[in-house]
Amino acid sequence: MTDHSATPKKLFIKTYGCQMNVYDSERMAEALGTKGYVTTEVQDEADMVLLNTCHIREKASEKLYSDLGRLKALKTAKPDLKIGVAGCVAQAEGAEILRRMPLVDLVVGPQSYHRLPEMVEAKGKVVDTEFPAEDKFDHLPTRRALRGPTAFLTVQEGCDKFCAFCVVPYTRGAEVSRPVARLLAEARDLVSRGVKEITLLGQNVNGYHGEGAGGSWGLARLLRALADIDGLERLRYTTSHPNDMDDDLVAAHGDLPQLMPYLHLPVQSGSDRILKAMNRKHTAEHYLRLIERIRAVRPDILLSSDFIVGFPGESDRDFEDTMDLIRSVGFGAAFSFKYSARPGTPAAEKPELPAEVSDARLQALQALITTQQRAAQEAMVGREVGVLYEKPGRLDGQMMGKSDHLHAVHVIDPTAKVGDLVRVRITASSTNSLAGERLDS
Ligand code: SAH
Ligand code: SF4
Ligand code: F3S
Repeated sequence: MTDHSATPKKLFIKTYGCQMNVYDSERMAEALGTKGYVTTEVQDEADMVLLNTCHIREKASEKLYSDLGRLKALKTAKPDLKIGVAGCVAQAEGAEILRRMPLVDLVVGPQSYHRLPEMVEAKGKVVDTEFPAEDKFDHLPTRRALRGPTAFLTVQEGCDKFCAFCVVPYTRGAEVSRPVARLLAEARDLVSRGVKEITLLGQNVNGYHGEGAGGSWGLARLLRALADIDGLERLRYTTSHPNDMDDDLVAAHGDLPQLMPYLHLPVQSGSDRILKAMNRKHTAEHYLRLIERIRAVRPDILLSSDFIVGFPGESDRDFEDTMDLIRSVGFGAAFSFKYSARPGTPAAEKPELPAEVSDARLQALQALITTQQRAAQEAMVGREVGVLYEKPGRLDGQMMGKSDHLHAVHVIDPTAKVGDLVRVRITASSTNSLAGERLDS
């Protein structure tokens, strides 16, 4: 299938948004590899530029148009340059992108990436934003390019939750889980090529319910089967919804040594009134009890979350409830966003709060999270953790890797290689990383 006749064409991909886009970009690069494309890091030397976009907040999707604006000069200098738009803005806006930006040649939605090889060879402009019946993953090349000892594996896509603020159910479609056998095969293949850590991805990854031996499997069962693969040392998963954390998954955090002690569990708000308006279908109390259950089986787990401030109708009291929730949990990390009204979502109908109010709340929330993040880092000093080396550090003989708790750790370890999983004692904490010394060399 690979076309070796032509000189390789160069493909530049820019990825915005979540880790599922990162995974998809890799798969698109492999698909276009069958048409003779090799990836480049240098946009100016590209024969094709592919922008894999995100629609989650207004700023994210506006970035596409400013980047396209900047590509005009390159297209003028290289008229044969192909420009493609993929991802969630492609899905949401489709042909509108071609109308607004005539320099774009193709628009492809997240469920149609397997059709890219044909689309690049088509004459004229093409748009494909269907939700096809076939599974794109079955039609994408399976030999995946690897970038190190860690890999993403998308196990589930789409979302049926319809939080009132969120575009994902519209851009990624309904929840679909990939079958167990395919995932185990892909994971074994990754491990055979040196991968030691796999992060399972899904918009609602813990809502996973894939076809497996004897019926439908939940995420915990899938994790247990993956943990049996020899050489697969670490497992993580993201992103989860509090309502889909079942007993089996909570238990897995206590009894699966490969499942790392870090969990991203978005709560969005600590106010029940706002959670209701957001259509989250859980309360602050429900979230706090869930955290207790997880900590009961894995006391050292580091928790992270997502927060939206300034949701329509959020009062000072509601915001204080969110701050209280943060104080009672104690997060190791968190992502926080100012509410952004997204066209087509129910919340977009409601009046927005003044920007100054949201800005001030965001600042206060981020200051609190930063304090907690620093405290969590400080608490690691003196402890022994596993570190998987991902790349050499900037200093001579230094390696950089991630700890079990997902902290970046620098270690002076001149004889080590990328991909080594070693024991390290943490010796110091700085703003965004830890330093440690190797124990078992
Ligand atoms: N599926 C995941 C993540 C979805 S998007 C989940 O359910 O948690 C990642 C984060 O972006 C969300 O958790 C939310 O905090 C934020 N987000 C989504 N829509 C937003 C909006 N309209 N304005 C601001 N932040 C938003
Ligand atoms: Fe969006 Fe809510 Fe679905 Fe997460 S659970 S993707 S926030 S609709
Ligand atoms: Fe963005 Fe789409 Fe991911 S909207 S966050 S790229 S699912």
